[in-house]
Amino acid sequence: MQRILVTGGSGYIGSHICVELLTSGFQAVVVDNLSNSNREAIRRVETIAEQSVDFIQGDILDESLLRRVLEDYNIDAVVHLAGLKAVGESVSHPLRYYDNNVAGSRSLLQAMDAVGLKKIVFSSSATVYGNPSINPVAESAALNPTNPYGRSKLFVEEMLADLASSDDDWHVAVLRYFNPVGAHHSGLIGEDPLDTPNNLMPYVSKVAAGKLERLSVFGDDYSTRDGTGVRDYIHVVDLAKGHLAALNSLSTGTGVDVYNLGTGTGYSVLEVIREFVEAAGHDIPYGVVARRPGDIAECYADPGKAERELGWRAQLGLAAMCEDAWRWQRNNPEGFQ
Ligand code: NAD
Ligand code: UD1
Repeated sequence: MQRILVTGGSGYIGSHICVELLTSGFQAVVVDNLSNSNREAIRRVETIAEQSVDFIQGDILDESLLRRVLEDYNIDAVVHLAGLKAVGESVSHPLRYYDNNVAGSRSLLQAMDAVGLKKIVFSSSATVYGNPSINPVAESAALNPTNPYGRSKLFVEEMLADLASSDDDWHVAVLRYFNPVGAHHSGLIGEDPLDTPNNLMPYVSKVAAGKLERLSVFGDDYSTRDGTGVRDYIHVVDLAKGHLAALNSLSTGTGVDVYNLGTGTGYSVLEVIREFVEAAGHDIPYGVVARRPGDIAECYADPGKAERELGWRAQLGLAAMCEDAWRWQRNNPEGFQ
């Protein structure tokens, strides 16, 4: 049985990946410092999968800890999600992002190199494209991140590419996520932001639950079909399955492969609100305000490469994303607390 180290595995996306790993015959070993997640998420993963996870509370900056984990658990490949992800915070505290995301990844790669383990799937983001000039966005599009968070992702992508060109034994899958949303269908795990959410779907969820008063729609004067921003929302379970497809691809070949993980379909803010109203069964108060600085009009993926090369494509639509996000919110009004 293959053993996979999942850094950041108790977080939103990592917990869903752990479920998919366990239910597909892999063993999951998680290293997470719990800076943005709760140990309870791992217990819930174990409940869903009816199998246990090896959880180690620790920091990816701790290279000797990582080295011990890789050796002690005889790890076969790494899925690397640990990192900070708040764009606004990255602008006000850039060094936190370069330290945690870039130096943290360097530490992990150093530990892997030292033990001769050279297979990794890395969580990158569509944010590396910045404001794309053409939609749908292909992997070959220009890379132009506009904030320290995005640059931290791009730097790690480049570090991985340099490593792979220095040593043919490395096999790397870089996954550029579009907008992950939704929750596991069981309603047991989902996104649990510690503060007021910045992103649309968790914010809508909290307004629907009456925990926040009303949603601000950031601008309705973009050149999109209804004037509001258009994004490629992808169900987190589909995204998690993409990681399994990527892991399977690492068993053959070498070098770096980059894949967009998105659905290929963009939805506007108003379309998301309408679908969420359907799921929740009641109105969601909202009002249009000014554009959010740094936001772009439209961004959606060309996911064709992942389908051609990994045999993966997203299966779940916007209705399932909203229904599952709502089930998670309704069943866990205080998140994992
Ligand atoms: P998350 O915050 O829920 O998960 C990240 C996890 O990493 C958390 O559990 C946190 O405690 C842990 N962590 C952070 N720094 C660490 C460190 N130094 N050592 C050990 N653990 C550490 O976020 P998520 O939404 O699950 O995102 C996972 C990854 O996917 C991140 O790398 C993120 O940048 C990337 N990503 C997320 C999105 C998104 O919209 N959620 C989009 C694109 C890319
Ligand atoms: C955010 C991140 C980006 C990351 C992406 C995927 C920012 C500035 N960017 O981008 O780096 O890769 O998530 O997770 O945080 N909206 C509202 N009201 C809200 C919140 C959002 O109208 O309260 C709108 C936005 O203007 C946008 C859409 O909803 O048009 C989606 O916003 P969001 O969920 O924050 O994602 P991104 O802007 O794509």
